[in-house]
Amino acid sequence: MGFFTESPFASSAVDLENPYYEQHVNARGAGDDRPTALQIVADNRVFNEWHDKVVLITGATGEIGLETAIALHSTGAHVFITARHLCQGKATMWKILTRSSGNGPIDILELEMESLDSVKKAADEFLKRSPTLNILINNAGICEVPKGETRDKFESHFGINHLAHFTLITKLLPALKAGSSSSFKSRIVQVSSIDHQNVSVDFNDINFTSGYNAFIAYARSKTAMIWTANYINSVYGTAGVHALSVHPGMVWSRHQQHIAPDVLKGWTFGYGASQVKSPEQGAATTVWAAVGKVWEGRGGVYLMDCRFAGGTHYLSIAPEEFNNFHPRGWQTEERLWRLSLQCTGMPEPFMDGMTPPFQANNLGLRNDWVIMEDA
Ligand SMILES: NC(=O)c1ccc[n+]([C@@H]2O[C@H](COP(=O)([O-])OP(=O)(O)OC[C@H]3O[C@@H](n4cnc5c(N)ncnc54)[C@H](OP(=O)(O)O)[C@@H]3O)[C@@H](O)[C@H]2O)c1
Repeated sequence: MGFFTESPFASSAVDLENPYYEQHVNARGAGDDRPTALQIVADNRVFNEWHDKVVLITGATGEIGLETAIALHSTGAHVFITARHLCQGKATMWKILTRSSGNGPIDILELEMESLDSVKKAADEFLKRSPTLNILINNAGICEVPKGETRDKFESHFGINHLAHFTLITKLLPALKAGSSSSFKSRIVQVSSIDHQNVSVDFNDINFTSGYNAFIAYARSKTAMIWTANYINSVYGTAGVHALSVHPGMVWSRHQQHIAPDVLKGWTFGYGASQVKSPEQGAATTVWAAVGKVWEGRGGVYLMDCRFAGGTHYLSIAPEEFNNFHPRGWQTEERLWRLSLQCTGMPEPFMDGMTPPFQANNLGLRNDWVIMEDA
């Protein structure tokens, strides 16, 4: 699928949905020619241009989150970061200020995603400080941790990676709508993972009570994040709130602390090592989803290596649907949405301009990439 247009930052025509193709063909490991988050900001010409915008990033104390925050702050936006403890948040704020040339304010929100009460409090605190939000980046996460549960008794990955972010989204949808304008529609960026492929949410055992496998638990939560983005884009896209999913790539971080050394050997030699990115490069796709002009008013897409990679999204369907192939996965996305409302105790967010779910499905309004592929 091509979307070739005159590039905003080069004289030659480039595929705007895959503008950094050349740089990714011969990847040579962290720090090679693949773009960094700051390069994405430069290429989209938004350095200190976004004084009217508000951005919230979860997990900015981590490797990819910090680089994401630095790049978004350099746009001049008012940036909110989350941290489990205020002191961690302050240390991160100083790191951002040291490396960003942006002159927007930075706010810190205390957030412990093990607890939905903490998420709700953080969202309320955000709303006290800002009535509008333009970009919500759901980046925080845990990976392949031993079996455990959150304070609300959900399996750790499902609870932290999915339900905590789901709660933040539903609390902040009105602010995202309030921030949306005809020149810049609000965006939610779900930082997912390529590990979501082939792994669905198990509606019969969301807490993984039987046969726990840490990789599958992580992958399920990342699939849940993508389905949530797709649902939001279908239903709230018409109200001015779009949602995109990304795989950041392979970045060394605390994320690998529970992964077996044998598995990680694949990251240190040969092809695997060539794919590893620096944290600055790992944040590039997220920042592209957030600032990329090509994504204005669009969503329901899955991005990796700063390119449209919607094809893999086809794999994110529930096992029962393999028999009756349903590429749009609508029923499962809506089912997850309803289940997540129940789990979090959040009310359905109704708003002017939204598309009632049954219409979103019937009208085929779901994902832009489906519409574009049909065109
Ligand atoms: N690194 C990779 O290769 C890779 C690959 C695919 C996808 N991803 C995704 O990219 C995102 C960022 O990963 P990363 O590599 O930057 O990981 P990281 O360095 O481990 O950062 C994770 C972030 O999430 C926060 N977090 C974790 N549990 C939390 C909780 N209970 N409450 C509040 N915050 C919590 C951490 O806060 P603390 O600092 O307080 O722990 C930290 O800020 C994640 O969603 C990850 O799944 C990463």
